[in-house]
Amino acid sequence: MRKLILAISTVALAVTAAYAADPIADRRAIMKERGNLVGGLAKMAKGETAFDAAVVSATLKKLEANEQKVDIDVLFPPGSDKGDTKAAPRIWEDMAGFKAANDKYQVVLQQVVAAPAQDVAALGAQINTLGGGCGGCHQSFRLK
Ligand code: HEC
Repeated sequence: MRKLILAISTVALAVTAAYAADPIADRRAIMKERGNLVGGLAKMAKGETAFDAAVVSATLKKLEANEQKVDIDVLFPPGSDKGDTKAAPRIWEDMAGFKAANDKYQVVLQQVVAAPAQDVAALGAQINTLGGGCGGCHQSFRLK
């Protein structure tokens, strides 16, 4: 009996690991954080805040941690196109394309994280590069 209970709770744990209680809220929170982080860098690139290489580097690290929270299968389960969401139905029609857009963003982010901008001009270029990764996905997979 004890063994059976153990086996059952192990299965329950395994299920919990690949399940988000509120995937729409979770993915929107991750995206919002991302928007805020890039927004902070954009302010610096525009000269609204002073350029600070240490802040750039720290912000990019936060973007990396933010990206690591993304598990597409958990955050975009079937049926989660319904609700308070701007996720386009196309995500579930072309899951491979959606994952490819996510992979592309990962690559771009890694490039930027590997060599954080040391001056305002480089920062502007890096934001454009990053923004291409965001836009590449939003254009096809986010509703207006
Ligand atoms: C792989 C696809 C993908 C990538 C890459 C991506 N996004 Fe998103 N983003 C989405 C989807 C899908 C939504 C809509 C989520 C929802 O409403 O459920 C979204 C929503 C958002 C939102 C609105 C959040 C809200 O509901 O308030 C912001 C802000 C955002 N993204 C910023 C960014 C930024 C900045 C980047 C790049 C640094 C980025 N995203 C990269 C797919 C992506």
